[in-house]
Amino acid sequence: MDKLRIQGERPLHGDVQISGAKNAALPLMAASLLTDQPVVLTNAPELMDVRTLGHLLTGMGAQVAQEGASIRLQADAITACVAPYERVKTMRASVLVLGPLVARFGQARVSLPGGCAIGARPVDQHIKGLQQLGAEVHVEHGDIVASVPRGRLKGARISTDMITVTGTENLMMAACLAEGESVIENAAQEPEVADLAAMLQKMGARIDGAGTSRVRIQGVDRLHGAEHAIVPDRIEAGTFLCAAVATRGDVTLRGCVPEHLDSLLDKLREAGATLTSGADWIRVQADAMPGGRARAVSARTSEYPGFATDMQAQFMAVNCLAQGAAHLTETIFENRFMHVQELVRLGATIAIEGNTCVVQGVKRLSGATVMATDLRASAGLVIAGLAAEGETLVERIYHLDRGYAGMEHKLAALGANIARVR
Ligand code: EPU
Repeated sequence: MDKLRIQGERPLHGDVQISGAKNAALPLMAASLLTDQPVVLTNAPELMDVRTLGHLLTGMGAQVAQEGASIRLQADAITACVAPYERVKTMRASVLVLGPLVARFGQARVSLPGGCAIGARPVDQHIKGLQQLGAEVHVEHGDIVASVPRGRLKGARISTDMITVTGTENLMMAACLAEGESVIENAAQEPEVADLAAMLQKMGARIDGAGTSRVRIQGVDRLHGAEHAIVPDRIEAGTFLCAAVATRGDVTLRGCVPEHLDSLLDKLREAGATLTSGADWIRVQADAMPGGRARAVSARTSEYPGFATDMQAQFMAVNCLAQGAAHLTETIFENRFMHVQELVRLGATIAIEGNTCVVQGVKRLSGATVMATDLRASAGLVIAGLAAEGETLVERIYHLDRGYAGMEHKLAALGANIARVR
């Protein structure tokens, strides 16, 4: 298993190009199931999760070809509307094929995702919403089995019990081919949801309000092919911002959307970093923070546009080295503090009180061997390792490879001493 070896305490300096968003690429790829015509995605990140979804789609009979940052998908000869356990267990986002399959083919068999490292993560809202659209859905031998007795889904008003990102995406895709109007209330407002809607519109869908809490969809008979550039990855961007602040560097992100990062930018400003931005770039200067260190800043995760749960571990790494104490409260997932004990191995002072971590900043972290437990936790450990004195070995970085394109190369180009050990 690969590891990352980091010699820390080197401030990051320079420019870094942000890749397309993993969490947009996955629903966009699943949306290719809604048409028999080609869908071309550009600005695609080269990631394990993207390859995993590609394999899932080819297993169903779709054609998927990725060349660099471009993916061409065509679902004109689907032979099996099935997402088997072997795929779903490696990537929960596989459940995103459920809505498109039911809408276009009137049937689907998708293995029920189990719990994962960060929480139980049920998909009951995806199922309930599809039922409201007229699908018959039950769980059989660990699979979600869905069919459409009347042949076509029927538009409906759906209000999810909580805000769910992939749930909103699944139901929005399904509603595009339903008969009549659907309204999704309490919809997720994440930029990735809006990006999916933008591509669905290019495919001929009639959607209003994506990116707000109420999405209105007029179903159409069929969708056609489209070409779409994937929205930049705000979590990758945020990860580099945190790495720059933790190492007290000066980094400019290129190819990002600053407004998608507003809540994090506010927090980093509060911490003492200087942030400037233009249409598609952000510069963070943290080499002259008052007192030479970041100030501790508390945060509470919430749905977009709030502080992203996907940034909590990385922001915790920044706080580990700050002046003062911060309270970081996780409200989205019940078990997303697996990085805490690993950060403690690096010398951090953190106490867990229910769903809040109290981080007492220390002057120095010291390198150690740590184990990545999930994607964003891994990113938090890499940031801490970059800031720590001496050598840090981050084990199990296959988690990191799922969601960050060439992270160690991008960090090395910014001056980090980091290498993959096979
Ligand atoms: N939930 C339910 N029932 C459902 C759906 C969700 O109880 O049917 C609960 C979840 O258990 C959780 C909350 O609702 O407590 C929110 O979950 P959500 O459905 O929004 O999460 P998701 O769609 O499974 C996406 C991202 C995650 C990100 C979350 C929250 C993708 C592929 N994944 O997951 O990204 O953390 O939204 O923003 O878009 C990551 O990239 O590392 C990652 C985990």
